[in-house]
Amino acid sequence: MKILGIETSCDETACAIVENGTRILSNVLFSQIDLHAATGGVVPEVAAREHVVKMIPALEKALKNQDFDAIAVTKGPGLISSLIIGTTTASTISLVRNKPIIPVNHIHGHIYANWLERSDDLPQFPALILTVSGGHNELILMHGHGNFEIIGETMDDAAGEAFDKVARLLGLDYPGGPAISKAALNGNREEYNLPRSRIDGFNFSFSGLKTAVLNLVKARNRLDAKFVADLAASFQEAICDSLSSKVVKALEAYNVKEVHLAGGVSANKRLREVMGECICDGVLFRYPKKIEFCTDNAAMIASCGYFMASGRDFEVGNIVADPNF
Ligand code: KG4
Ligand code: ZN
Repeated sequence: MKILGIETSCDETACAIVENGTRILSNVLFSQIDLHAATGGVVPEVAAREHVVKMIPALEKALKNQDFDAIAVTKGPGLISSLIIGTTTASTISLVRNKPIIPVNHIHGHIYANWLERSDDLPQFPALILTVSGGHNELILMHGHGNFEIIGETMDDAAGEAFDKVARLLGLDYPGGPAISKAALNGNREEYNLPRSRIDGFNFSFSGLKTAVLNLVKARNRLDAKFVADLAASFQEAICDSLSSKVVKALEAYNVKEVHLAGGVSANKRLREVMGECICDGVLFRYPKKIEFCTDNAAMIASCGYFMASGRDFEVGNIVADPNF
């Protein structure tokens, strides 16, 4: 079964065709990073206008005269003005080509990035999923396809959001995650002893860490390269520790076969390293097979749509964007 995936929840216009949830036949992405770098973050109106410009070219490039059986589109969460471009496109194709539409939750989409190109090594349940993106930070027990139990979430910022805000404080580029991890390569992660949240249970909090960085920056007249590198490395370490300590705690409480990283921050090499070191023997640790599967893309949406569709009926028709989906 071939699914056409469409993703426009934030600042990437993306279309893909994926077969049986794992095999990528096309995966097209038009990034808006350069457009938003000037403002240091996404301006919704600017993002939506760019989606309008890029949607049809992305679709044409992904389709290349291939047929497909159904359309999976991100319904939410995300920026409403961006989501609308994807859902309107999907509704139109559904009606014109008489193909059913499958609504996909963007975060569930990120989770299915771990299924891409893994047809001979499919993930096993139950799995513990740490979703770390720009807008979401959750710890999820995945009992089966579409069966998600949220056991922890952030009380304030998501990990990616913290990376983006701290990068801004340090005068680094947008998006902050890749910029911080690059700066951290030349830094000493033990230079600054930054706070790790002591919040109860499986929840997360990054506001104390962010304030600690802000105070160090304020106390400084000049942001020289050594200061930025050391602080970037120390901050990254604090985030990795906070995330991995909750995963370890969850592994003590629940019996799972696998642990997965999902979302943009799963691209972070240090996070992968720290998590890999603390996950117990007998539990398989996965992150998306390719870096481009970590951040927003349409292949993960198509994969999620495929597994959501199995055994269920979806109809031809309209789909309405919902930022709170
Ligand atoms: O999942 P995503 O592409 O979009 C959302 O759904 O939010 O995640 C984007 C986030 C941004 O905050 C970005 O700074 C972060 O992922 N990110 C990273 C890395 N690459 C992207 N954070 C840390 N290290 C990275 N290498
Ligand atoms: Zn995302």
